[in-house]
Amino acid sequence: MEFIKHGLRESATFDRNVISDIQRAAETGIYDIRGWGAKRRLPHFDDLVFLGASMSRYPLEGYREKCATDVWLGTRFAKKPLHIDIPVTIAGMSFGSLSANAKESLGRGASAVGTSTTTGDGGMTQEERGHSKLLVYQYLPSRYGMNPDDLRKADAIEIVLGQGAKPGGGGMLLGQKISDRVAQMRTLPKGIDQRSACRHPDWTGPDDLEIKIQELREITDWEKPIYIKVGASRTFYDVTLAVKAGADVVVVDGMQGGTGATQDVFIEHVGIPTLPAVRQAVEALMELGMHRKVQLIVSGGIRSGADVAKAIAMGADAVSIGTAALIALGCNSPKYQDDYEKIGSAAGFYDDYQAGNDPAGISTQDPELQKRLDPIVGGRKLANYLRVLTMEAQIIARACGKSHLHNLEPEDLAALTIESAAMAGVPLAGTNWIPGSSAKI
Ligand SMILES: Cc1cc2nc3c(=O)[nH]c(=O)nc-3n(C[C@H](O)[C@H](O)[C@H](O)COP(=O)(O)O)c2cc1C
Repeated sequence: MEFIKHGLRESATFDRNVISDIQRAAETGIYDIRGWGAKRRLPHFDDLVFLGASMSRYPLEGYREKCATDVWLGTRFAKKPLHIDIPVTIAGMSFGSLSANAKESLGRGASAVGTSTTTGDGGMTQEERGHSKLLVYQYLPSRYGMNPDDLRKADAIEIVLGQGAKPGGGGMLLGQKISDRVAQMRTLPKGIDQRSACRHPDWTGPDDLEIKIQELREITDWEKPIYIKVGASRTFYDVTLAVKAGADVVVVDGMQGGTGATQDVFIEHVGIPTLPAVRQAVEALMELGMHRKVQLIVSGGIRSGADVAKAIAMGADAVSIGTAALIALGCNSPKYQDDYEKIGSAAGFYDDYQAGNDPAGISTQDPELQKRLDPIVGGRKLANYLRVLTMEAQIIARACGKSHLHNLEPEDLAALTIESAAMAGVPLAGTNWIPGSSAKI
């Protein structure tokens, strides 16, 4: 306000954030690494609205009429597909980036509401296996902590090809978070920055991946569903190839997707937003005649039951959450405002997951900070949040006259902007216009 009074004008190109970035780079000679996903405004689910029922459609009565929420995952080939009670799963977040208490909280919260949680780079901890009724085991390029016994202990296997925050990039875990336990699990030296591979060591394309999938199926007696996770970029082709390689489930993670530690330039400038990625993934599955046969899990910026319902209406079978789950555990809580200020941050802005000094005890390996997160309390909060997401999605689905969340469809949606109409493939509100609808990808 003061600036406006004096007629000062901030540059849109060189705003205060840009100036601070340039000066930080000039002082340190180091690029910025941080957690969270893209921070700039991108086309998102907020740009879509539901067309609730009135005369031409008939709504369901909230108190009397059922709206089911369960999902089967892995029905294509696996002998033991997963049956989850709600269409929201917990995304893979590594032990190392997260504390053992955080991993246990995620397992407890997910299990309380009948859904699955996922390991991450660096292997499986006893805490999360013990407290997760359904645990998906990530198989990553780094192979840190990978062993066949843990593959067999898992309920599903997720082959990670990429993440929405960094399609084409590998992982990083900075030295301050490589504790004795993390080092031992990853067979790495303690306290040394670690950068993990961006591609798998033993296959290079879909034909090889098909063989890898067969190998994983053999190891696990064809019981476990095999997921393939891709970061959103050339999503139509990537999903097509994942299905061709034999995936039971495809996970598509959009540009808004969170990370434990990645270069800021990567997070903000590589990949496409979740909205067009869902549409491309669904188009690929439909073209192959595999929609609903190979299940689609979507992640990247899911926050509310409205986001869940919109992703499902666009054709996803389920969604997955990372950042929102950490926030539910207490990440960025005003309770820790004084501590955030001491490390140069503030509640609502804290994204330095790489630093290992998280006041909320979540993205840290510090034994004292970790104690701030009680896994029983954390699990309870996450379960509450997951229940709210589900109830919110049900409220919307009933208003659209659906007795199962999966009955939501693109026809229930309208777009508020031309960009979102084109990206999501739904008409601009008040019109029947879908910009670019003749283009497939
Ligand atoms: C702290 C943290 C650690 C993560 N670690 C991994 C990982 O080890 N492997 C992986 O595939 N994705 C990892 N991710 C990405 C998540 O699996 C997921 O794709 C992303 O968080 C979804 O977007 P959202 O955070 O907006 O919900 C991580 C994300 C966060 C926030």
